Amino acid sequence: MSKPVRIAPSILSADFAKLGEEVRAIDAAGADFIHIDVMDGHFVPNITIGPGVVKALRPHTTKTFDVHLMISPVDPYLEAFANAGADIITIHPEAGAHTHRTVQTIKALGKKAGVVLNPGTPISALDYVMDMVDLILVMSVNPGFGGQSFIDSQLDKIREIRKMIEATGRDIDLQVDGGINLETAPKAIAAGADVLVAGTATFVGGPGEYANNIKKLRGEG
Ligand code: DX5
Ligand code: ZN
Repeated sequence: MSKPVRIAPSILSADFAKLGEEVRAIDAAGADFIHIDVMDGHFVPNITIGPGVVKALRPHTTKTFDVHLMISPVDPYLEAFANAGADIITIHPEAGAHTHRTVQTIKALGKKAGVVLNPGTPISALDYVMDMVDLILVMSVNPGFGGQSFIDSQLDKIREIRKMIEATGRDIDLQVDGGINLETAPKAIAAGADVLVAGTATFVGGPGEYANNIKKLRGEG
C-alpha cells in the first residue's frame, strides 16, 4: 500500500540568495524531503546546483536530501553528491549508457537510489532495476524548469507503476515531480503517488505561507 503522503519542496523555487535560510524555513514548515534539482545545461536546458551547494546546505537540516540529477554523464558525479550529503540520488536512464550500473554505484555508496521517467520515457525503462530501486520518480513535466503545467497522461503511468510496486512487495517510494498544485496533487495521490515534489506551490506567498502550503498539498488544509 502507499505510505502517507510526503511533501518534497523543490528548492528550485526558493530564493537562491538565501538558500540556507529557505531550507530551514521549509524544514520548520513540515517538509519531509528537501528536493534538490541538479541541472547541467546539457541534459536539460538549465544550470542550477552542484555538490558544493549541497554540502553547504547539509548543516541546515536533518531532513532527507532528495537529489534529482539531471546531468549527463551522471556516473562521474555520484560520489561527489553522496559525499556532499545526499540521502536519495535519483537518475535518468537517458543520462548514462548503463542504468543498472549507475543504480549499483549509488547503492554501493550507501545511498538510496531513484530512477526517474521523463514524460516520454516508457515504463519498460524500469525493467530489471525494480529489485534495486528505493524510489521511482514520474516526471509530470519535461525537466528543466519550475512552474510548468502538469501533463495529465502521466497519471496512467503512475497507476501502472503503483501496481508494479505492489507486485514486488518492496518498499519503493513513488514520487511525482512537476506542476503539482492543489488541483493536481489529489489526482497524483489518487493514482498512487506517495511523494509529491512541489516547487512553485510550496514557495508561493513567501515564508509565512510555507507551512500552510505544505499542509494543503498533503490534503490536510
Ligand atoms: C523540473 C524539476 C522540478 C521543478 C518542479 O525539472 O525537476 O523539481 O522544480 O517545479 P514546479 O513544482 O514549480 O513544477
Ligand atoms: Zn526535480
